Amino acid sequence: MSIIKVSGLVKDYSVRKKESEQSKLLRWIRPATQQFRALQAIDFELEAGEFLGYIGPNGSGKSTTIKLLTGVLTPTEGTAQVLGFTPWKREKRFTRKIGVIFGNKSLLFWDLPVLDSLKLYKDIYNLDEKEFQDRLEEFDKIFQLSRLINRPVRKLSLGERMRSEIAAALIHNPPVLFLDEPTIGLDSLAKQEITIFLKKYQQREKTTVILTTHTISDIEALCERVIVLHLGKIIYDGSINNLKGKFEDRNIILSLKEKNGSILLKEFGENAVQLSDYQFEIKTTKSYVKKILGQLIGLNMDISDIKIIEPDLETIIKEIYRGKTNDFSGN
Ligand SMILES: Nc1ncnc2c1ncn2[C@@H]1O[C@H](COP(=O)(O)OP(=O)(O)OP(=O)(O)O)[C@@H](O)[C@H]1O
Ligand SMILES: [Mg+2]
Repeated sequence: MSIIKVSGLVKDYSVRKKESEQSKLLRWIRPATQQFRALQAIDFELEAGEFLGYIGPNGSGKSTTIKLLTGVLTPTEGTAQVLGFTPWKREKRFTRKIGVIFGNKSLLFWDLPVLDSLKLYKDIYNLDEKEFQDRLEEFDKIFQLSRLINRPVRKLSLGERMRSEIAAALIHNPPVLFLDEPTIGLDSLAKQEITIFLKKYQQREKTTVILTTHTISDIEALCERVIVLHLGKIIYDGSINNLKGKFEDRNIILSLKEKNGSILLKEFGENAVQLSDYQFEIKTTKSYVKKILGQLIGLNMDISDIKIIEPDLETIIKEIYRGKTNDFSGN
């Protein structure tokens, strides 16, 4: 059963017209606006327990989508159902069923101990004392929350603050969680900690999660499915493996026993690159790998090692953002 169903969702923002398009006086009386379409009729569905990576370059509409699905914004056109609710109706029963983290906005009181903020959310979500204590215990097991809980938020490191933010967003054990760049600004160690926690937590609770991030390694560690957004449109929806399979580039790295690699430069021309005295790279595509290996055998060289390198997800995503290829249908 679909937990989230998005259909023809469009969001226009009103933006000021360029100054040149309006006389000074008119601009002063009533600044003219025009509509900017940030989301262009997107459709997708999410099943219970899915962990979706929702990615795209800056300004592609990720946060806009999360704001629509959490009821912060109302769409211009289209429908969305989250757990059967229309988010922008903002029913109380709905807000109790979702957790939200915007990496650049805090759920916590800056000057108060973390526990005080968590107690506030306990009251907002009507949790009884036992439920609350059980949740704190669980967070403590997964990421040692009790060490931080009595310290004021302003005295926490960014990584510690993010763990407390996650505790606040999850205190009511929501079945659906929205994470908009939860690791923004964290160093790589703190990022890794949050990733490990999210993985453990999601596997335990089977929460349905939508995660937006620019850290592709997080997506690889957490999500099987990814949606790629570009200029407000979905350009890929499918598995990460399928996405990787669409990219045919291969690099063959050869390590030689002797300094006789110039033969390679002759044989493969500009597709061969010398990396060091003994190491060469041959750029090719998946379908030519077999032929090239045959050619290498024919050259009768003393080879100590051969590696065939596939592009990593980070590179693939960059290629997609650059618009190098157009066929990204996920299935
Ligand atoms: N309140 C607003 N008023 C006008 N335009 C907006 C508003 N909010 C967002 N936009 C524009 O809508 C587009 C999508 O913005 P959005 O914040 O959804 O992108 P994003 O994918 O989350 O980007 P990022 O990776 O930088 O967070 C951008 O061009 C942005 O400038
Ligand atoms: Mg954003």
